[in-house]
Amino acid sequence: MWTKANPLGGMSVETFLRDYWQKKPLLIRQAFTDFTPPLSIDELAGLACEDRVESRLVMEQGPDQPWQLFSGPFEAEFLQALPEKDWTLLVQAVDHWVPEVAELLELFRFLPQWRLDDVMVSYAPTGGSVGPHFDYYDVFLLQASGQRRWQLGGWGDESTPVRSDTRLKLMTEFEVNPEWDWVLEPGDLLYLPPQLAHWGVSCSQDCTTWSVGFRGLSAEEILCGAADFLGEHLTEDQRYSDPDLTPLRHSAEIDSQALARVQSLLTRALDQPDILAQWFGRAMTQTKYPDQLLPPEQRWEAADLHAWVETTDPLYRTEGSRFAFHPNAQGGWLFVDGEAWPYPATLQSWVEALCEKNQLDADFTQQTLAQPEACTLLLSLLNQGSLYAPEDE
Ligand code: SIN
Ligand code: CO
Repeated sequence: MWTKANPLGGMSVETFLRDYWQKKPLLIRQAFTDFTPPLSIDELAGLACEDRVESRLVMEQGPDQPWQLFSGPFEAEFLQALPEKDWTLLVQAVDHWVPEVAELLELFRFLPQWRLDDVMVSYAPTGGSVGPHFDYYDVFLLQASGQRRWQLGGWGDESTPVRSDTRLKLMTEFEVNPEWDWVLEPGDLLYLPPQLAHWGVSCSQDCTTWSVGFRGLSAEEILCGAADFLGEHLTEDQRYSDPDLTPLRHSAEIDSQALARVQSLLTRALDQPDILAQWFGRAMTQTKYPDQLLPPEQRWEAADLHAWVETTDPLYRTEGSRFAFHPNAQGGWLFVDGEAWPYPATLQSWVEALCEKNQLDADFTQQTLAQPEACTLLLSLLNQGSLYAPEDE
């Protein structure tokens, strides 16, 4: 796939985080040397025809409107009948289906894994693009084949004017910063912070781009999600009360003391770090497609794990599964695919090793068997489908 990979070029992680992450774009020429995509354009088109795969197509001069958006799955005949140029096919979560694409993600472990959304792969013939826009994502755009010209400029927000004649949120004004105008060649990598306007246009018939996207929840998602979860831990006895009430100026007035009591109740309800950690860990490890997480046909028992170790084969993390942990005074919480388990402090290094690897080798499984609490956790992960043994497939 590549002979040498260095997503930050020669830059240190410290410098990248301090000067670029969430702040400004960075182009790394030849971050991947001799990059050859493990997935052909035909294979990508094949994925876009599958029911379980999320895909879209954008046609600049669509039959019904400009910048027309079509949603997959597509019929092969529809894809074959597309014009020669000026369209883009986008396939979401290719890392879930192509292990070589998932491998790439290991190179991005200098960022929180739980911020990762997926790897989207796009294909565009000459002139293909999705138009000028901004995303609320951090994204690393890897030129996988062909060439694409990227122009960047300006910052977008909710008030940015967008076109009304397409379902895509395309900016009506896009001013290119001349310093940020580049043609990417295979192996080049471009980092874009959220809300930076960008427009990438294919300059060849074989342009494929891999987008490694990192998501950040909106304040609304955090507030509503956390409130639901924290709310379940509140009791009927916790309520608005005013034993400090003093004689009223007017019986209809909601005075500032009343609002201060509401504020204080909210602050106390939110000030539950362990419950908040439980909610956040579950939320950030929820899989992108929860109904695609399938438990094994046969439940794993400890005896099966003992037998598995004998084969010396590894266990695998399910593509698209998300792992995270939060240490606390008692040990911590392990979060996998939206579930949470407390673990004792003695398992800290086991949990760290578990969260680090896409493949758990026989040594790891052996060590797990020696620790009953770790063994129980591993069995839970196998039984919820977050880990699998190849035979399970
Ligand atoms: C693309 O790969 O064509 C579009 C990616 C983006 O602009 O976000
Ligand atoms: Co974009």
